Amino acid sequence: MTKHLVSAYQSLPISFVKGDGVYLWDQNGEQYLDALCGISVTSLGHNNPVVTRAIQEQAATLIHTSNLYSIEWQQKLADKICSLSLMDKVFFGNSGAEANEAAIKLARLYGNRQGIKDPQIVVMEHSFHGRTMATLSATGSRKVQAGFEPLVSGFVRAPFNNLESIEAIAENNNKVVAILVEPVLGEGGIIVPDPGYLAKLREICDHNNWLLMLDEIQTGIARSGKMFAFQHSNITPDVMTLAKALGNGMPIGACVTYGKAADIIQPGNHGSTFGGNPLACRTALSVLETIVDQDITGNVVARSKQLIDLLQQGLRENSQIKQIRHLGLLIGIELNQNCQTIVKQALDQHLLINVTAEKVIRLLPPLIIDEQQTAEIAEKVIHCITTFQPDYIS
Ligand SMILES: Cc1ncc(COP(=O)(O)O)c(C=O)c1O
Repeated sequence: MTKHLVSAYQSLPISFVKGDGVYLWDQNGEQYLDALCGISVTSLGHNNPVVTRAIQEQAATLIHTSNLYSIEWQQKLADKICSLSLMDKVFFGNSGAEANEAAIKLARLYGNRQGIKDPQIVVMEHSFHGRTMATLSATGSRKVQAGFEPLVSGFVRAPFNNLESIEAIAENNNKVVAILVEPVLGEGGIIVPDPGYLAKLREICDHNNWLLMLDEIQTGIARSGKMFAFQHSNITPDVMTLAKALGNGMPIGACVTYGKAADIIQPGNHGSTFGGNPLACRTALSVLETIVDQDITGNVVARSKQLIDLLQQGLRENSQIKQIRHLGLLIGIELNQNCQTIVKQALDQHLLINVTAEKVIRLLPPLIIDEQQTAEIAEKVIHCITTFQPDYIS
């Protein structure tokens, strides 16, 4: 253990040295089933052969040139994202927070260019948008913000899945230019809104000339059972942000724009040294092609149904369960008590899971998972919950 790392993380005392498909191996050669994917990142599994080949070939050819020159792989990736989303233009960065920074800057430009002084963005309670100053200010969690005051101004907060509050803001606040919202609250506890919520937000945005900006950093790239979660709602956002699974572990973020949002960012408004480099873009392109070629969304739908059915059956009689929520393979099991120690209990069962919002067991299994591996996750999770000890120490 080194003393030379900033104590930003309370990492578990385990380190993985190898990954393949849905499995990871630690230094002692012990095998673990990964039902978390590095928090929704390695969705196509570890060491995916198509993605690994793309990385190897591109690393041996060209990694970086900068955006001073045009980058063919960046153009190909933008074309692919736009053909899959039916949106128009993409800006590339290196992370989710950067993708959201681009969206926030875009919304401010949109407002300022219309002469709206101090434009504001509606954001949600219990949301998570990142750890940079603007994105943590947009985030709806005091824990994330505490100690970092003064926060970035220009955000108005509303309860998630509550349309009346948005309508009230529209009536009383003429500085609003956009809504930034996750289609499903991820870090906030896998909160799935009512059907029709996004469609109604789209209507409110159209009526008030606001931009609808969807943070699909956790929900996007097939996790929900569609390539993008908004595709369950028969709408198109003005802006969508992506990261996490887009690179299957290669750092990349994207701010995707549509219609009136597509030409707001102009030369000199925004930039990134690494953003959109050939290595990250070729990797991400191989990710999207694999999802389409191998009908990964079809697998997500089938495995999601199987896993939810098994969890509901196995936990039906369990009095600790408050609710099981999901969209595709984005799954939250809410208990009636703090359950953070269940992560260690699962680790001792050689299963990787996570707890968010203190009481919600979060499962983000690989989208390539097969029937037998899905049954194994269900069995282990049910076992951990039925034998759950809040003060568990392994
Ligand atoms: C919905 C959402 N937005 C933004 C982020 C921030 O992404 P990153 O950690 O890549 O900056 C996350 C990360 O968990 C997220 O879940």
